[in-house]
Amino acid sequence: MLPVDPANKLSFHRCITGGDLVIVYERHDNMKAVKVCEGSILQNRFGVFKHSDWIGKPFGSKVFSNKGKFVYLLAPTPELWTLVLSHRTQILYLADISFVIMYLEVVPGCLVLESGTGSGSLTTSLARAVAPTGHVYTFDFHEQRAASAREDSERTGVSSLVTFGVRDIQGEGFPDEFSGLADSVFLDLPQPWLAIPSAGKMLKQDGILCSFSPCIEQVQRSSETLRSSFTDIRTFEVLLRTYEVQEVKIDCSEGDEGGILGSPPCKRRHRSSEESSRPEISFSTRIMAKPSGEARGHTGYLTFARLKCAS
Ligand SMILES: C[S@@+](CC[C@H](N)C(=O)[O-])C[C@H]1O[C@@H](n2cnc3c(N)ncnc32)[C@H](O)[C@@H]1O
Repeated sequence: MLPVDPANKLSFHRCITGGDLVIVYERHDNMKAVKVCEGSILQNRFGVFKHSDWIGKPFGSKVFSNKGKFVYLLAPTPELWTLVLSHRTQILYLADISFVIMYLEVVPGCLVLESGTGSGSLTTSLARAVAPTGHVYTFDFHEQRAASAREDSERTGVSSLVTFGVRDIQGEGFPDEFSGLADSVFLDLPQPWLAIPSAGKMLKQDGILCSFSPCIEQVQRSSETLRSSFTDIRTFEVLLRTYEVQEVKIDCSEGDEGGILGSPPCKRRHRSSEESSRPEISFSTRIMAKPSGEARGHTGYLTFARLKCAS
């Protein structure tokens, strides 16, 4: 488990030990979570990596296989964990997570309620955002999912910041012990409108609720319920567009120089008399950014609302 450093931040500034979870990074679209065990190996297209070679190295180290190829051993930060965790449910991704943390105003010391826990993708980021003095209480009615998310939180080092409960939040609401104590509530439930009255009771004055729903019909129904005790109701859809930056070779043969708008002039060399009878072919390289094919489209709608002040 990752310790809390003297500056009270979740810290990865230490060396890898047996039992740690590391993210084995080949490239940005090829990563894998691996538990380090003395005596184990990792085998991939780069060859065989001995875990024993990893122990004692700082997180972020480059390690080599028996074939001289390398991977990086990264710390399981929430950003990376979201990309490698095992999907037991649909999950929230970086774009929605970042937006949720900001619009829910989650800061160190906050008490946050969440349901459902699902695969714990959002939970891990909420936990880091409230550290070191806050706490996340997350509920799912699916016992096995709650248990798996709890185990994951031990592996990613946030277990002391999260309590996992098994409860039907749509049917029973959040436990009364949190009444008036929550800074924010996050719902990712199939019928969030059933949990909204309870969420309202849990929030402190001015507290904020966010509900994630994949369909606009769910947003409409939730918004109707929110109107009685919430204000400032706003819905967002977050779309992320990623770009791949690549070096490309451009043919700028004679007569075609600068054929692509803004391309740099080709570097030409003097040609011999024999060569000059042949048409000249020359290339220049250029850095280009093009939208990535793996960009995600619609994930869902995020509806935020602030508890009305008691008059
Ligand atoms: C889409 S998943 C949540 C994913 C999560 N936000 C994440 O990022 O990993 C929805 C979860 O809600 C849980 N759920 C559905 N109905 C529930 C209810 N009435 N009470 C509590 N949890 C419920 C499901 O078991 C499921 O795990």
